[in-house]
Amino acid sequence: MEFLGKHILSVSQFDREAIEKLITVADRMKPYANRERITKALNGAILGNMFFEASTRTRTSFGCAFNRLGGYVRETVGIENSALAKGESLSDTAKVMSGYSDIIVMRHPLDGSVAEFAKSSRVPVINAGDGSNEHPSQALLDLYTMSKELSRFERPIDGMRIAMVGDLKYGRTVHSLSKLLKLFNNISFTFVSPKQLAMPVDIIEQLIELGHNVLETDNLETGLANVDIVYQTRIQEERFPTKEEANKFRGAFRINRYAYSQFCHPTTVIMHPLPRDSRADANELDADMDEHPNMAVFRQADNGVLVRMAMFALILGVDEKLSDYESPVNWTVLQ
Ligand code: NCD
Repeated sequence: MEFLGKHILSVSQFDREAIEKLITVADRMKPYANRERITKALNGAILGNMFFEASTRTRTSFGCAFNRLGGYVRETVGIENSALAKGESLSDTAKVMSGYSDIIVMRHPLDGSVAEFAKSSRVPVINAGDGSNEHPSQALLDLYTMSKELSRFERPIDGMRIAMVGDLKYGRTVHSLSKLLKLFNNISFTFVSPKQLAMPVDIIEQLIELGHNVLETDNLETGLANVDIVYQTRIQEERFPTKEEANKFRGAFRINRYAYSQFCHPTTVIMHPLPRDSRADANELDADMDEHPNMAVFRQADNGVLVRMAMFALILGVDEKLSDYESPVNWTVLQ
């Protein structure tokens, strides 16, 4: 797969070589993300960061990633603040915005919308989440995180055992992650969800066809046993027909210190794309896990900057030029 000048709309575009390349370039971003050095490799470039759906970390980490490479960020946030609210088509918006930007990141509530937008864009477009369909950059940062977390226990991704828990029907992160992991060998997938929120059949069929092991269960204890990674998810209440429908599933699979100590192996790594729903009845991933050494969710969120920097650098062709535009950090880094 070629990165230069390309849209990133789906993880289906990736092969293992492209993943390896992305991981290598993401590692190269550490000194800049950690404020040890500054690079201006993208000096003068403009990112159109267009978020038509709620976001905290994806929007900000894409923006920070571009800034850390020396580029500028222009944001459009909320359909109500854009000409889409006046009836403009995605295609017209793309024709206009691609005249203003060097690259565009877009999130939108409808499946397929970012691909439709990209057809009319003159610059590369990255899908930051289209409805319940895909979230490729999240899957890439999840995979990056898994490779780093498992390496602590000297384990590779090939042969890994992962439990994905929660809303597997509407969760775009688990859709993209499953499709990305299918490129590896002999993965054991345990899908833990209520039957009504099961992983789409076409994804399960693809995994089985490629020789991976798949177990579906609605029992948390069964799901958590004997896995290397637990990937917890939020009930995607904004995608349900009504809030009442979503509420039926709130708190169904509670992960906390007690559940971890009872059901998980002591080296099991806990991941979550975030946000976790911290309202009282959600009970999805308790804060009592936060200090546990295998709770990787905030390291995972940090990795988002590295992986998104790598995506920009590869798509815009500066991945080998970072140190040519380097300078020291002037301020006192307080982290
Ligand atoms: C996820 C998303 O938007 O799909 N969040 C994120 O980008 N980290 C998961 C979620 O909202 O539950």
